[in-house]
Amino acid sequence: MKNFNPVYPKLFLYNRFFSKFYLIQKLHQIFWVFISKFNKNLKPFFSDIDSMKKENYISDLILVNEFHQNKLVDEGISVATDALPIEEHKKFFEICNGFESVLNEDITQAEFYNTFGTKIISSNKEYAPEQLSRMAGHFYSDQAINLSPTLYEWAKELFYFTFGMELPKNKFFIEIISEKSSAKENISKLSRDHIDRFIPATKILYSPKEINKEQSPFVFWKKSHKTNKEKLKWHDNFIRQEISHLKDETNYDQNIWKAQAEKSGFIEEEILCQPNQINLVMTSGLHRRSGFKYTGDYFRHMVFISFYNCIGPKEILKKAFIKK
Ligand SMILES: [Fe+2]
Repeated sequence: MKNFNPVYPKLFLYNRFFSKFYLIQKLHQIFWVFISKFNKNLKPFFSDIDSMKKENYISDLILVNEFHQNKLVDEGISVATDALPIEEHKKFFEICNGFESVLNEDITQAEFYNTFGTKIISSNKEYAPEQLSRMAGHFYSDQAINLSPTLYEWAKELFYFTFGMELPKNKFFIEIISEKSSAKENISKLSRDHIDRFIPATKILYSPKEINKEQSPFVFWKKSHKTNKEKLKWHDNFIRQEISHLKDETNYDQNIWKAQAEKSGFIEEEILCQPNQINLVMTSGLHRRSGFKYTGDYFRHMVFISFYNCIGPKEILKKAFIKK
């Protein structure tokens, strides 16, 4: 698999060879869970007590307001409709329409560049050869802020809420991914239930266009985001699963996860999206993209803002042990 999930902050070089050893993985996981537990900002995501909120961290900007913050702590996901001002929504909508035309081969990539002025895209077919067509647009720092000042505000708020730190402007990054269903997908590769990180983590998923059941909606297991005894058992299973999958890519059984998740009281939910909807997600909870069920003219457009590169091991360690 091309994409490694950054399950730990990268204090040690994360490489394929060491990833194959259970003990190394386990020590890594214990270390980071232990460290992040000392971070008072992350604490509410460790508790079993549902009523424990992060009241102290609600900022005056109130873009990510009290409602969303409490929902994130309680359920691991919160949704806002009509989220961006119309002119910002329109920009994403247009870019996605452009991607759609390229994926449909109505226009060439060169024509797309001309329409949007700048070379902002990469096509990413090696990610899943012959399975689906995929286009990605990357926007960094000022370019990303210009594209959507409102998403930047949400990102700042969410980052501060999660980690109690300022979001480094130069690391703000927006990724737009458009996919077209072209054949039945290989579920073991792209649509596996997984956890992005062992320590609490948040992400913004924004949908410029509608995403219905046929368009591979995001699936989240509500209540699966809290780090507690139950969840640590989960981490263990996750490590074993990843190791066996590294050794043999066919080694994957979606049903094992499903049965375990249901037993743990997690609630599986397909997150259907309206155009202009922001989804705030705890990606330390169990989730997946559901995968296209049919071949044909089905598209999935999603805008991602993740913070994995915005906070390093040094910051996490500092936050845990140096109290202001
Ligand atoms: Fe993920």
